[in-house]
Amino acid sequence: SLSKGRSFLHRRSNEERSFDKLRTNGGRASVRLTDCHNIDDFRALAKRRLPWPVFDYIDGAADDEVTRRRNRDAFDRCDLVPRVLAGVESIDMRTTLFGREMAMPLFLSPTALQRLFHWQGERAVLRAAANAGTVAGISSLATISLAEAGALTGGPKLFQLYVHHDEGLNKAMLDAARDAKFDAVALTVDTIVGGNRERCLRSGFTSPPRFTARNMLSYAIKPGWGLNYMLREKFSLPNLATHVSEGSSVPKSVAEYFTSMLDQSLDWKRAEAIRKKWDGPFCLKGIVAVEDAKRAADIGATAIMVSNHGGRQLDGSIAPFDALADIVDAVGDKLEVICDGGITRGTHVLKALSVGAKACSGGRLYLYALAAAGEDGVSRAVGLLRAEIERGMKLMGAKTLADLGPHNLRWR
Ligand code: LAC
Repeated sequence: SLSKGRSFLHRRSNEERSFDKLRTNGGRASVRLTDCHNIDDFRALAKRRLPWPVFDYIDGAADDEVTRRRNRDAFDRCDLVPRVLAGVESIDMRTTLFGREMAMPLFLSPTALQRLFHWQGERAVLRAAANAGTVAGISSLATISLAEAGALTGGPKLFQLYVHHDEGLNKAMLDAARDAKFDAVALTVDTIVGGNRERCLRSGFTSPPRFTARNMLSYAIKPGWGLNYMLREKFSLPNLATHVSEGSSVPKSVAEYFTSMLDQSLDWKRAEAIRKKWDGPFCLKGIVAVEDAKRAADIGATAIMVSNHGGRQLDGSIAPFDALADIVDAVGDKLEVICDGGITRGTHVLKALSVGAKACSGGRLYLYALAAAGEDGVSRAVGLLRAEIERGMKLMGAKTLADLGPHNLRWR
């Protein structure tokens, strides 16, 4: 039975490989931005551009990466049932989130270290999001300051707070987000310790990058990346560097950073106290249990991101789309419920909204594009997804997002 198991694994991986080929231009990595027609194309281009430790940091996840794959595959558990002859010459996909109008029901989740992926980093992401009329998430581990992010665009912005041991740092970040007129704060609740990211263990990836005899070659063969890293402004995590040197001048893997720098005593009482310090829309990021969703509402959160951190934390944990229906049933009338993770298609967004999510969000869906081509890449990725949502709504016979509901889904 062992050998049977092995051949099963083998067959699966062959199937996966050919599926990958189908999805990515016959397996040939796209060479130009205009050849990128879906998120897998951007991924292929990012892989060509980035040193592999950096690519694997974005692409990788915890343990066996089961949850990472499931986040996407979960959307295949149900089918859309379109209605026809609905007169769809003009459709409206606007919605509101965090007290702001959004031109589309999909936004860019906060992610760390963006200037390592492309020299334009968060600036590209903020501009692309503002131009698309959607929310840009900015991480505590961002590579530009909150003040600069605030000044850069008038678009809606979400600040993602990681609660550190250093209480002065936590306060300084919330104050900076307030001063920079961020619309909302997302308190991260799924990173109480770092996930086991084995690709990063193998590559030795750290922030800032540490160049070692073992990984030097991977950087040397991507001179474009290396020149930008060496010659452009010096890498740092300015929102943290005022209080801690780890991550900016002392190299740490992200998992080590979480485990040693974040406060593991964080609990509901503390979350409620932080909520009270932020006068505005407040979100808990990384909820998948119904009971936790209810408690989020109890402490005065206005939104939750149903998320498992892109499968980067607890492998084997439930996919956001699989957790969504029960959570919407329990708190959908009290909180804005956001489905975060696994989204690579407009139809994924339509499915999540049909279940009852207010909006969707994702990280890798724009990070590959950022790595591939900076702001132009992010704009193209967001534009493609927007076009997919629009086309999907028309083909579904849905003129507004309110037309979507459980009635247009059939579960397998
Ligand atoms: C990560 C953090 C930084 O998943 O969000 O790497």
